[in-house]
Amino acid sequence: MSYFWPMWFYKKLIRPIFFLFDPEKIHHFTFRFLKFLLKLPFINFIIRSVYNSSNKNTSRVVMGIKFPNPIGLAAGFDKDAKSYSEFSDLGFGFIEVGTVTPLPQSGNPKPRLFRLPKDESIINRMGFNNDGVDSMLQELKKNKNKVIIGGNIGKNKITTNEDAHLDYEICFEKLFSYVDYFAVNVSSPNTPGLRALQEKEPLLKLLLSLQELNLKLSKVFQSTQKPILLKIAPDLTEEQLLDIIEVVNSSNLAGVIATNTTVSRQGLRTKIEDVKSIGEGGLSGRILMQRSTAVIYFLRKNSKRNFVIIGVGGIHSPEDAMEKMKAGADLIQLYSGFIYEGPGLIKKIKSELSKSDF
Ligand code: FNR
Repeated sequence: MSYFWPMWFYKKLIRPIFFLFDPEKIHHFTFRFLKFLLKLPFINFIIRSVYNSSNKNTSRVVMGIKFPNPIGLAAGFDKDAKSYSEFSDLGFGFIEVGTVTPLPQSGNPKPRLFRLPKDESIINRMGFNNDGVDSMLQELKKNKNKVIIGGNIGKNKITTNEDAHLDYEICFEKLFSYVDYFAVNVSSPNTPGLRALQEKEPLLKLLLSLQELNLKLSKVFQSTQKPILLKIAPDLTEEQLLDIIEVVNSSNLAGVIATNTTVSRQGLRTKIEDVKSIGEGGLSGRILMQRSTAVIYFLRKNSKRNFVIIGVGGIHSPEDAMEKMKAGADLIQLYSGFIYEGPGLIKKIKSELSKSDF
């Protein structure tokens, strides 16, 4: 089946209904509804055949992992790893779960998630609301279909930056045997002070401590070390990006995820009063496309080592996906585009990818 009808159905019928409700409430409702639907064998079969037709041309090996396709679900959507199997049924090639912290935490007060339909964008200040790493572990133990999982790890709000490495280490150790790669999140704008960990010295210290643990755990479990990627903000200066390249190389990371949400509000069409009334938070969606692609391009151009780049930020069409790959992304991820375009977007990108050189 072509991707036209599923996309039309989502954009003309489902999305207008979803957008009548509070964004966070509808997010949780969709999770529960999707889980229920996909448990029904007949519906599961139909959804998989509409959205998840396999396309051999799009599979690839990156970081030693065989991805069925290069399109992943970005972190923050399946925070507690409760629905990775369902998202895989919808056609994603991999799911990045988290950001998870050692202890459960409720995040910032609500409302904390806002749509900007005119800009096809989102502002969020969720603040790492999650059930904690032990709960995630129980969910990941159920991964019977071997869905490819990235574990996005962070620190609890109450943990100081001096002790932050301990939080990352706890999550790393607990998830080691259950994820295919790790994403170290130091770039969320919604945990006070977190982005200071992107500075050269604390970052190197954090990443070296994780690599040391990586080596230790690989010996304990007699397995290979896990690829570690660093998730960075789109708001870094060129100088800071050069520092990131240096740190990524000297800590021998597998790569970078570029980018997280931005604190900038430039270029929005939504009325300035409306944007101001929303308040603080990270901005994602179409508005982020150019900036995050520029970051990918800069990293590719300025790094001598060919590390892996996962490109994320503002992908709403196959053309956007191609642009990310042309800039140097090996894999891509969706978040806001998935909300605005629906699951048909994955199929559409896969179809275009299979016709291209990427
Ligand atoms: C996010 N994002 C995010 N990233 C992360 O590393 N950990 C997280 O917990 C979250 N949480 C989160 C919640 C919400 C509501 C949104 C919209 C985003 C950032 C996300 O993974 C991605 O990097 C950005 O949203 C940019 O991609 P899109 O949305 O423009 O495709």
